[in-house]
Amino acid sequence: MLIAGNWKMYKGPAEAAVFCRALRDAGLPEDVDVVVCPPYVSLEAAVQALAGTEIGVFAQSCHWEAEGAFTGEVSAAMLHEVGAYGTLVAHSERRQWFGETDESAAARVRTALAEGLDVIACVGETLAEREAGETEAVLRRQVGVLEHDDNLVIAYEPVWAIGTGKTATPAMAQEAHETIKSLLDVPVLYGGSVKPENAAELLAQPAVDGALVGGASLDVDSFAAICRAAVTS
Ligand code: PGA
Repeated sequence: MLIAGNWKMYKGPAEAAVFCRALRDAGLPEDVDVVVCPPYVSLEAAVQALAGTEIGVFAQSCHWEAEGAFTGEVSAAMLHEVGAYGTLVAHSERRQWFGETDESAAARVRTALAEGLDVIACVGETLAEREAGETEAVLRRQVGVLEHDDNLVIAYEPVWAIGTGKTATPAMAQEAHETIKSLLDVPVLYGGSVKPENAAELLAQPAVDGALVGGASLDVDSFAAICRAAVTS
């Protein structure tokens, strides 16, 4: 089981350090892999605060080129240098607000993996796509550009469930995860309004290998509770 906390644009370095020190002391279960994904500027503070623990620090994206004239971007090697263990790629907010496409996502994934970073690549349908019966086609398109790698994990995050309080039913998650696994044999995390109250039943689905948690990962107690729910699932 892997539980990853996506902080999005929350927590600067000082707050990240305080959070990570509290997470160290939260008594996280040993048999669950735990990862936090701070904003770029807070990566180093998180890495330092979590040094000597098994908790991994991931970035939220990285560029597909090694270096170059790409204002505002960060390379995989730079992430490696600050001690990040991996990165998210193609979160739906990147797709929605920053022009991420299936092709740019695939390029970022390839570069990050080649640099030795672990990658959590995000996929998922919008509400309109689900209502039009296109969920499977969307997943086939988004997953179809990726190749198997031992260090690649996919996060299934139905866009309509992100930050909305609406969660996919366990059966919906199981079905989507089965589709993804039939395309690529990698672990698949569920994401979208995961909370301490619903984590156990989502994580109990056989094709759910963990969770990517947004809002509920910003609070140490609720994030730790989700990590504990992963043990019993
Ligand atoms: P949420 O976000 O848990 O706040 O819905 C999940 C995500 O966007 O990764």
